[in-house]
Amino acid sequence: MRALVVASTRPEVIKLSPVMRELEARGVEYTFVTTGQHYDDELFWSFIRDLRLRQPEYNVEVGSGSHAYQTARALEALEEIILKEKPSAVIAEGDTNSVLSCALACAKLHVAFAHVEAGLRSFDRTMPEEVNRIIADHVSEVLFAPTERAALNLIEEGIPPEKIFIVGNTIVDATLQNLEIAREKSRILEAVPEDFLLLTLHRAENVDSKERLSGIMEALFELRERVVFPVHPRTRQRLEEFGLLKRAEEELHLLPPVGYLDFLMLLSRAKLVLTDSGGVQEEAIVLHTPCVTLRTSTERPETIEAGGNVLAGVEKAGILRTVGRILGDERVYQAMRRAQNPFGGGDSGRRIVDTLIKLEEEGRLEIAPPGRVLRRKRREFMRVDSSLAGKRIGELPFQVVRVIEAGRARFPYPELRLREGQMIEVVRED
Ligand code: UD1
Ligand code: UDP
Repeated sequence: MRALVVASTRPEVIKLSPVMRELEARGVEYTFVTTGQHYDDELFWSFIRDLRLRQPEYNVEVGSGSHAYQTARALEALEEIILKEKPSAVIAEGDTNSVLSCALACAKLHVAFAHVEAGLRSFDRTMPEEVNRIIADHVSEVLFAPTERAALNLIEEGIPPEKIFIVGNTIVDATLQNLEIAREKSRILEAVPEDFLLLTLHRAENVDSKERLSGIMEALFELRERVVFPVHPRTRQRLEEFGLLKRAEEELHLLPPVGYLDFLMLLSRAKLVLTDSGGVQEEAIVLHTPCVTLRTSTERPETIEAGGNVLAGVEKAGILRTVGRILGDERVYQAMRRAQNPFGGGDSGRRIVDTLIKLEEEGRLEIAPPGRVLRRKRREFMRVDSSLAGKRIGELPFQVVRVIEAGRARFPYPELRLREGQMIEVVRED
């Protein structure tokens, strides 16, 4: 097995660090590539140091620019690297422009693309990330879904279940692997007030609109709480451009983007976190810090169902109401703190590497044209009767894509036993 790992932005480095560690522990050779989408020390290189990763072998140095520019330049460069390195699988995580380029490069070269954090959906296609993740998922050979719900999103879009592996989220591994180190090494808590709320904000749809960013900032000013705010460079630029920076500096506790170990300390100590980040919603529930998401949708609905996260929207009144409800009622607050992380026990890195090694041994990472005339496949529903009840899905002579019971869909785990009265969705070939 020869892997190529592409990690090009802050969250990708964090979430792929457990996979890289596992590849190393298992003696699997891999090449580390960054497209250079994030290039500043505070958004990229400090994470390589904090997470004790090796230096990337390739840096494409794409830098900043429009979506088309970033995607096209990375696509061209990754094609060359993949042709040269000839990996058996390319691993990338998430939904950035870099990941889109990587998935496309692999699909065109018939090299297996393994997508970590597959199946997340916000159902808002105005988000660049939503478009990126849909396309990446549809050209992936191996899809590592963090939860059953994410896996079902993929199945609903027609992706076959045998390509999908539910492995939890590597953010849990990263958090658990680094929290103790953070406690030892980080001094950040000496530089912030004792009792604080943490804020992160960087989504294009929130910070690139003057009206929206002003509304969010107004809510934060009115909260009259101590708010610690490590500012993403994109957001700093916009605050300045919209004339909001001075008041933010006066009323909030602004910091430059902080390193990973410092961020873990801030998040674990904060009374509550306000964020539009994807990764922070996940880390918050792992660390039992109540989370208020400053968005109108989330592709992490599991955190809301688990009770650790609330969608506050992006209007001033809604944000104030939501924070007031949580901080004004100890029972609500404590219930949020007790919420259990839905993203697994911290062994996702191992499960990902196990799966890839096994797939390679079985020859399932090779992509070749079909050797037979293809038939049309269609899906249809079937009721489980007494002849099927008690059988495991893995032993059936036809393919099941979903099991439906009491109106609720389940992933067709091969070991799941069918029960009478359930419906199954199956694949038929004409
Ligand atoms: C990108 C991802 C987003 C992800 C985020 C993680 C896309 C479409 N967006 O958003 O999904 O959540 O990374 O943080 O892929 N900049 C710097 N230094 C850097 C990099 C960027 O100052 O090292 C500034 C530049 O002015 C740049 C702006 O930040 O124009 C935006 O950077 P970009 O990578 O395009 O998007 P992010 O907002 O970081
Ligand atoms: N993070 C960090 N320093 C900061 C803000 C965030 O180390 O100042 C980390 C945080 O621990 C999380 C990740 O960055 O794991 C989230 O990245 P971001 O919010 O940029 O992207 P998203 O997850 O929304 O794609």
